[in-house]
Amino acid sequence: MAEPAVSVQDVRVTFRGVTALDGVNLTVPAGQRRALIGPNGAGKTTLFNVLSGVIRPDAGRVSLFGEDMNRASVQARAQKGLGRTFQITNLLSDLSVRDNVMLAVAAVKPSARITFWRSLATVPGVADRTEELLRRWELWGVRDHVVSELAYGQQRVLEIAMALASDPRVLLLDEPTAGLSKRDAAMLTDVAAALPESLSLLVIEHDMDVAFTLGDVVTVLADGKVLAEGPPDVIRASPVVIETYLGEHDDAA
Ligand SMILES: Nc1ncnc2c1ncn2[C@@H]1O[C@H](COP(=O)(O)OP(=O)(O)OP(=O)(O)O)[C@@H](O)[C@H]1O
Ligand SMILES: [Mg+2]
Repeated sequence: MAEPAVSVQDVRVTFRGVTALDGVNLTVPAGQRRALIGPNGAGKTTLFNVLSGVIRPDAGRVSLFGEDMNRASVQARAQKGLGRTFQITNLLSDLSVRDNVMLAVAAVKPSARITFWRSLATVPGVADRTEELLRRWELWGVRDHVVSELAYGQQRVLEIAMALASDPRVLLLDEPTAGLSKRDAAMLTDVAAALPESLSLLVIEHDMDVAFTLGDVVTVLADGKVLAEGPPDVIRASPVVIETYLGEHDDAA
């Protein structure tokens, strides 16, 4: 059987006595789309930080495609095929759309690392790959716009295009539709749905419509533990999920 794209085994993380992840297990087969939902502070972003190597767990194991990653650096995991976007934007808002993508492309080209950014376009392959990403994700028309002038929806698309610069095999999206209008959230959902089928996707989402549309399987995290896991229709109907999370969500609506 093929190795899972992502395997998390009994991962624990505490921040100065506060337990953020309390024995989390998660297996994502290659090519699966997994939605990760749960209340604020459930540990969702912490799990992404453990997967990408930003945080070392206090206990437990993380592997990518069967290879143990516990001691691997952020860069080593990116080379193994892990890409991500952030809950708080990492766009350079004073630069153009094109320059942002170009920096992301150059970051994964060792030959471009020491080049000052203005001349990156001259590094072999950088300009071509940048154009390809801009065209594919319909950002070509706004390539010369400064990022701060873009609509929020387009900024989120730009972040995804940048995360794809390294040709990841696993992509982690942390609340891609946060702060978007219903219309832009639907557009972003279409963009995520159009990602390559071979790509394994983990999406943290507060918007239930997006989570249940994108996820083949939905994992519910609460208080650092996996509360439930299953196909969207099963999770939607699960009493424990409704009580712990969806009920609270409905009250707020
Ligand atoms: N760097 C940190 N230092 C201290 N505590 C942290 C840190 N990062 C997260 N925490 C705590 O760990 C817990 C889980 O936080 P996390 O950000 O993973 O939750 P989340 O599920 O992503 O929440 P949200 O939906 O609000 O983004 C929270 O109690 C949070 O305050
Ligand atoms: Mg978070």
